[in-house]
Amino acid sequence: MKQILIINGPNLNLLGKREPEIYGSQSFDDFFKSLQARYPDLQLSYFQSNHEGALLDKIHSAGFSADAIILNAGAYSHTSIALADAIAAIPAPVVEVHISNVFKRESYRHHSYLSAHCVGCIVGLGLDGYRLALEWVLGRKG
Ligand code: DQA
Repeated sequence: MKQILIINGPNLNLLGKREPEIYGSQSFDDFFKSLQARYPDLQLSYFQSNHEGALLDKIHSAGFSADAIILNAGAYSHTSIALADAIAAIPAPVVEVHISNVFKRESYRHHSYLSAHCVGCIVGLGLDGYRLALEWVLGRKG
């Protein structure tokens, strides 16, 4: 059974309430329940934190055992060399997801410190980006 962890960073606990014109109106908890129902054979877990250190600790603790991590680090994507180093340090492949199309938005969102260390990036496809990342993990050998 594949072990996959979804990690969301700062402000993503507010999905459903936060700027719904950008991020949609579904809460992540509801979305996550629908993912679990859709993929009952996966060991799928979810972690969210607004704290950079807690995200680092989670990547360290899961990154040597999980089959993959799907990560939306929110604004830390654009600022955190520490998160980039954590992704580089672990063997688990990390898929970077952004709900919104960051390239259509402010220029400070156009660069991610994380992307170069991730196996791939899904940007601008809404919450469906997490599901597409999951499909990639499932189709992957190993
Ligand atoms: C985001 C994009 C980031 O620029 C922003 O800071 C977020 C969410 C996204 O999913 O579109 O918090 O990562």
